[in-house]
Amino acid sequence: MSLSWSGKDQKNANQPAATGQKRPRNDAGNKVTVVLGAQWGDEGKGKVVDLLATEADIVCRCQGGNNAGHTVVVDGKEYDFHLLPSGIINPKSISLIGNGVVIHLPGLFEEGDKNEKKGLKGWEKRLIVSDRAHLVFDFHQVVDGLQETERQAQEGKNIGTTKKGIGPAYSSKASRTGLRVCDLLGDFKDFSTRFKNLVQQYQSMYPSLTADVEDQLKKLKEFAERLRPMVRDGVYYMYEALHGPPKKILVEGANAALLDIDFGTYPFVTSSNCTVGGACTGLGIPPMNIGDVFGVAKAYTTRVGIGAFPTEQLNAIGELLQTRGHEVGVTTGRKRRCGWLDLVIVRYAHMINGFTAIALTKLDILDVLDEIKVGVAYKLNGKRIPHFPANMDVLQKVEVEYETFPGWKTDTSAARKWNDLPVKAQNYIRFIENHIGVPSMFKWVGVGKSRECMIQMF
Ligand code: GDP
Ligand code: IMO
Ligand code: MG
Repeated sequence: MSLSWSGKDQKNANQPAATGQKRPRNDAGNKVTVVLGAQWGDEGKGKVVDLLATEADIVCRCQGGNNAGHTVVVDGKEYDFHLLPSGIINPKSISLIGNGVVIHLPGLFEEGDKNEKKGLKGWEKRLIVSDRAHLVFDFHQVVDGLQETERQAQEGKNIGTTKKGIGPAYSSKASRTGLRVCDLLGDFKDFSTRFKNLVQQYQSMYPSLTADVEDQLKKLKEFAERLRPMVRDGVYYMYEALHGPPKKILVEGANAALLDIDFGTYPFVTSSNCTVGGACTGLGIPPMNIGDVFGVAKAYTTRVGIGAFPTEQLNAIGELLQTRGHEVGVTTGRKRRCGWLDLVIVRYAHMINGFTAIALTKLDILDVLDEIKVGVAYKLNGKRIPHFPANMDVLQKVEVEYETFPGWKTDTSAARKWNDLPVKAQNYIRFIENHIGVPSMFKWVGVGKSRECMIQMF
């Protein structure tokens, strides 16, 4: 018997399977387009998703929780989304929260209600929630804070989490004591027992943890009824969407490659897979249904929270990027750390995700600089290293090799096509593309906050 690998065996590609089933093996159905962060988050994913969502039928979140903060600016109005997919803004599309997401129900409804006041109508009718998604409870958020205090006391440093309960909720999921949407909507007596057990477990680990269990359960029961009409079997919903009539399906990544639990700068990461695999596991869809994978990268680098950051600029350049770029966390209001674009990390994100194109955002923030640097390689003991180090002590020690470019010193915010950009900015962009290894890789270049401030390259 010979084994054939996908993409190699073309001979039988269009033949129905031997079992007589009607669907040819390569008729995978609709493809989904995935948008992912290529740095440490806040690259402008919300804006890219909003752009694509204007034509999308379904916009899905597949991982993370309300640690994410995605900004969308439409007609001068600024919206921030945390748990709701940014596509919720499009009245013609459905938004789906997949099984890989962890949901804090008070946070979800507060977010919806807040945006409703800003003019977002009918969002509850357009939202589908997977019955397999895990729940984040208030005590998970309290425990997040307690763990941070403990880390600070024991190791002298914390992670700088968003304190949204993300780590503790994914821990409950992995230790198989977590509670899911389907549990909340099932037998409430059984749910209450498991909820109480979970609280007790955490109280035995953290004796200072207090929780008014009865009050929490009462509130959860109310949330359950508000949530019930939105809940579906997420896997079946996606299966039907993939195999029905042609549909444009978008997946909105949260957090980013360097915050991924497996590939990020561990332990200074979040607790989910923010790389392309998270789209399959977080929605229950086969890899063959993944179509375009769009990476989003800022023209410089930012990071919120603690952890190594080789191109960080703790000087006037960093301050200028922070103030000009309004680099303040959408979820926590913390100032973001800023530095030069680091192509080592973008290349690393590309190795894992296989981007089919990239959106380069916030080029306009560099408009006033005399010169612009780009980190192109890491050196250890004077020698270039070809990989991205796993060990944080090593990453702290790398020396960054930079390439320096003259600034274009021109306002780019009104540019709407490639030829509107100054030649020096074009050279900067082309250099980055070539260095990532794929010429003409940038599909968009962002030059401002709003929807129209985007140059589409192809
Ligand atoms: P996300 O988490 O990846 O969705 O990004 P955030 O919304 O947290 O942060 C990105 C910030 O940059 C937001 O305030 C956006 O409105 C803004 N932004 C996005 N693209 C551009 C751009 O091309 N230029 C400028 N000046 N701002 C942008
Ligand atoms: P978006 O989707 C930037 C960071 C936190 C912290 C670490 C762990 O807006 O790009 P967590 O609360 O997840 O346990 O925190 O991860 N972090 C983000 N930083 N953007 C995000 O999301 C982030 N989500 C998590 O600051 O360092
Ligand atoms: Mg953000």
